[in-house]
Amino acid sequence: MVDITVRPMTADDAARVLAIYQAGLDGGDASFETTAPTWAQFDAGKLPEHRLVAVDRTVIGWVAVSPTSTRAVYAGVVEHSVYVDPAARGRGVARLLLDALIASTEAAGVWTIQSGVFGENTASLRLHQRAGFRVIGVRERVARHHGRWRDVILLERRSPVIT
Ligand SMILES: CC(C)(COP(=O)(O)OP(=O)(O)OC[C@H]1O[C@@H](n2cnc3c(N)ncnc32)[C@H](O)[C@@H]1OP(=O)(O)O)[C@@H](O)C(=O)NCCC(=O)NCCS
Repeated sequence: MVDITVRPMTADDAARVLAIYQAGLDGGDASFETTAPTWAQFDAGKLPEHRLVAVDRTVIGWVAVSPTSTRAVYAGVVEHSVYVDPAARGRGVARLLLDALIASTEAAGVWTIQSGVFGENTASLRLHQRAGFRVIGVRERVARHHGRWRDVILLERRSPVIT
């Protein structure tokens, strides 16, 4: 394990965060999206209190969450994204970010974190399984990515400490 710090994301991190986001999209197994948002779009869509970056000499990964519903009963259910610089993968960075996100969300009373993952994204599936997420099910051929229908595996982690 290398010496990596996890801290809150700020607007000064925007360029690195979006570059890492784009690199993940370019890999083809992260999302149906093909182009990273602008910072304004990113900023508008993510909850400010649960945005984290991993840093060694520079930002090497990030995690952030979006609300899943405007209904009050689902206020504690969020959807997350986690992206690590290709040059920093396989060193436990995503796990650090995910564990920090779980701590941050649980401290704020968020009870469920969910995500959708392409079936081909073995790194993400492994990461989430190890961090305590379970598979809800598979959405078959739910949308097209570069013209190809793809399955999405729905994952969730229900906090055991929020009862
Ligand atoms: C998925 C991603 C975030 C993982 O980041 P990472 O920092 O390399 O992951 P970690 O090093 O923390 O590894 C977490 C677990 O996944 C495993 N893993 C990592 N890369 C793997 C790979 N290519 N194949 C299989 N398992 C892999 C690790 O061994 C580890 O499991 P372990 O605890 O049993 O050893 C990274 O590959 C990425 O940014 N991908 C593009 C964006 C993306 O797909 N995000 C997720 C969208 S749902």
